Amino acid sequence: MSNNPSLNELSKSQQLMNLEEQYGAHNYHPLPVVLHKGEGIYVWDVEGKRYFDFLSSYSAVNQGHCHPRIVKALKDQADVLCLTSRAFYNDALCEYEEFMHNFFGYDRILPMNTGAEGVETALKLARRWGAVKKGIDNEKIKIICCDGNFHGRTVTVITMSNDPSSYAQYGPLTPGFIRVPYNNVDALREALDEFGDEVCAFIAEPIQGEAGVFVPDDGYLKKCFDLCHEHNVLFIADEVQTGIARTGRMLCCEHDGIRPDIVILGKALGGGVLPVSACLADDDIMLNIKPGEHGSTFGGFPLAARVAVEALKVVRDEHLVENAEKMGQIFRDEIKKIHSPFIEQVRGRGLLNAIVTKPVGGKTAWEICLKMKENGLLAKPTHDHIIRFAPPLCINEEQLREAIEIIRRTFDEMANA
Ligand SMILES: Cc1ncc(COP(=O)(O)O)c(C=O)c1O
Repeated sequence: MSNNPSLNELSKSQQLMNLEEQYGAHNYHPLPVVLHKGEGIYVWDVEGKRYFDFLSSYSAVNQGHCHPRIVKALKDQADVLCLTSRAFYNDALCEYEEFMHNFFGYDRILPMNTGAEGVETALKLARRWGAVKKGIDNEKIKIICCDGNFHGRTVTVITMSNDPSSYAQYGPLTPGFIRVPYNNVDALREALDEFGDEVCAFIAEPIQGEAGVFVPDDGYLKKCFDLCHEHNVLFIADEVQTGIARTGRMLCCEHDGIRPDIVILGKALGGGVLPVSACLADDDIMLNIKPGEHGSTFGGFPLAARVAVEALKVVRDEHLVENAEKMGQIFRDEIKKIHSPFIEQVRGRGLLNAIVTKPVGGKTAWEICLKMKENGLLAKPTHDHIIRFAPPLCINEEQLREAIEIIRRTFDEMANA
């Protein structure tokens, strides 16, 4: 604590938030809560108050905070070997690679760290495949993406975005992208009819998370997948947020019964403890990139390799796919019973859900989230009026019902305030 008496009058949280305000870049606008500890579905602030975590670090904490098995895997490996780079082999990466092959059924994995790097890697794999296998002139290669997408923050990745807060004044952007409306098969068909010979891939999120948990129509992904294959175009699924049990399937694309040509994983692959991402694909796509042509110093490093394997084993052993499906149904059923002037729509799949709100008396989703925080539940608005609800997938029914009561009470208090 500071010796300055006026500073000492501030709460510990306020002092810490002031530090961040003063010394950190202002590229986020966090809810005013300073977290210190996490366990399972709960987090605690520096004053010791406990909250339900209904964001799960944007679905990176599917297995719950500080899962003992995942933390043990991290610590055990940290005692032995942390980082080798890819200049040498190590005994963790190869076992991770084999595990991923058996777990997801793709020939190979290309390991990276963040979700955005996973997306970049998928785009490079697709462009390389387009040049080598489809024979497209490299200068003309195109990738089709969707309105409303969120695939991360690198310059190439923000090129795909139609949200000015992502791309504005970061130009010049990367050429070679065509954007079509999401959940619109005809738009993709038209783009493929017009440009198909020069298109190497179509990239989509199976549910658009950052756009506000926008769930496409049943069959949309399958129709897109079939269209892509008619045009010899790769289907890339960005499962960074939707993958690893979040939507009640191991991969969200399973809802539509498709096996994408390239799958991008991130977030929960790191078990809530490390940034771990990956692209999965078969030989025909993966082996066009040769030694020295792509990589990352940390990608697939021994800590990440051990953590990712344990993170997936936890998902399997604790039946998190089934739990997400079951708890998600209860969540939506119960939230739909809340009658509030603030609630316009409830939507989602598994434990990736959202309430679309409408402002009442000048109070918006931000004020609702502040009130939920006061009441002991953390969630964050996306696009001003949509609140995402995505707890760790280990939540049980009793805990879920307690959390739903907090949400119900919050909406009541907002209406009566
Ligand atoms: C679908 C999707 N792709 C990619 C990313 C980027 O991941 P990261 O923030 O780890 O770079 C995100 C992050 O929210 C995402 O939701």
